[in-house]
Amino acid sequence: MINTKDNKLLEVTGLNTAFFTGEEVIRAVNDVTFTVERGEVFGLVGESGSGKTVTAHSIMRLVHPPGRIVSGRILFEGRDLLDLSEKQMEGVRGSRIGMVFQEPMTALNPVLRIGEQIAETIEIHGVRQGNGARERALELLGQVGFEDPEKRYIQYPHQLSGGQRQRVLMAMAVSCDPSLIVADEPTTALDVATESQILGLTRGLVDSLGMSMIFITHDLTIVRSMGRSVGLMYAGRMVERNRVEDFFREPLHPYGRGLLGSIYGFSGSAKRLKAIPGSVPKLSELPAGCKFHPRCPFVMDVCKGDEPAMKEVAKDQWVRCYLY
Ligand SMILES: Nc1ncnc2c1ncn2[C@@H]1O[C@H](COP(=O)(O)OP(=O)(O)OP(=O)(O)O)[C@@H](O)[C@H]1O
Ligand code: SF4
Ligand SMILES: [Mg+2]
Repeated sequence: MINTKDNKLLEVTGLNTAFFTGEEVIRAVNDVTFTVERGEVFGLVGESGSGKTVTAHSIMRLVHPPGRIVSGRILFEGRDLLDLSEKQMEGVRGSRIGMVFQEPMTALNPVLRIGEQIAETIEIHGVRQGNGARERALELLGQVGFEDPEKRYIQYPHQLSGGQRQRVLMAMAVSCDPSLIVADEPTTALDVATESQILGLTRGLVDSLGMSMIFITHDLTIVRSMGRSVGLMYAGRMVERNRVEDFFREPLHPYGRGLLGSIYGFSGSAKRLKAIPGSVPKLSELPAGCKFHPRCPFVMDVCKGDEPAMKEVAKDQWVRCYLY
C-alpha cells in the first residue's frame, strides 16, 4: 500500500475565483478545498451554476477576464500551478492534465481529419513525431472503441455522431499519457444509451491507464457509478467531500440528504426530505451564514451568523455544516 501522502496527485486548497464584471463581483468559487488521489475518479457534482466548471477552469488556468483566480493553491505533481508561467502551464495542459468538455464539436477542428488532430496533439507535446504519431493515433482510436481505426483516421468530425466525437476527444485527452483527466459533463449532450457506453469506456480507460479523473456532472447517479470520492457543490462552495459509498449510504450535508431523498427516496437517520423546497440562490443574492440555510430543515440560529467552515468529521469525510 502506498502511503497516503505520496498518493495525492492534486491538492486544491482555499481556491477562490471571481468575475469582476463592472457592476458586481461574482464569487463563483469560494474556499474550495479537495484532494484527488492517484488512480481515483473524483466526482464533482452540483446543480447548474454551482461553480463546477469554474473550478475545473481554475485548475487548468483557463479562467479568462473578467474572471480571475483570487487566491488559493493548486498543487499538482509537486508544483503549485498558480506559480507557473503561461508557457509552463501550456506544457501541463494536454500533456500532464487532459481535458474533455461537454460539446465535442467545438473542441474539434471541423476542417481537419480526426486522426490528424490526434496525431497533431501527440506531436505538439513532443511524445512522438511523424509516422510514430500516426501509429499512436490509430492505436488510441482502437482503445476508445473504434473497430476500424484506419477508416476513422481519415474522417472529419461532422462524419461522426456525438458519441463518436466524444470518443475522439477522449483519445486526444489521453494521447500524451497524462496523470489527470478533467472531464466536464462529457455525456450531457448524448442520449442515454450512448452515455452509458461512454461512461463504461471512460471507466475502463481510467482503470487500464492508471490515471486519475475529475468527473464533473449534475447527475448523482453518474457519480455513484463512476467515482470513488465525491465533492458536492452548492452556490460556489464545496459543502461535502466524502467517499462515494459513504455519501450514498448517508450523506453528511442536509443538501446532500435532500438531493438523495429526491432521487432515491433515501431516508436517513434524521427527517426524511422528499424534495428540497426553494431554489439555488443567485450568487449576487446569497444569504448570510450558511448559504443553504433558507432551504434547510435543520436550520439553527447559528447558521444565519457566520458561514460554517469545512470540517473533517471522520477520515476523508468533510462537511460544511453546524450540525457537526
Ligand atoms: N464568464 C463569466 N462571467 C461572469 N460570470 C460567470 C462567468 N462564467 C461563470 N460565471 C458565474 O459563475 C457561476 C458558476 O458557473 P459554472 O459555469 O462554474 O457553473 P456549473 O456548476 O458548471 O454549472 P452548469 O452545470 O450549468 O455547467 C455562474 O453562476 C455564473 O454566474
Ligand atoms: S449549517 Fe445549518 S443551515 Fe447550513 S446545512 Fe447545516 S444545519 Fe442547515
Ligand atoms: Mg458547467
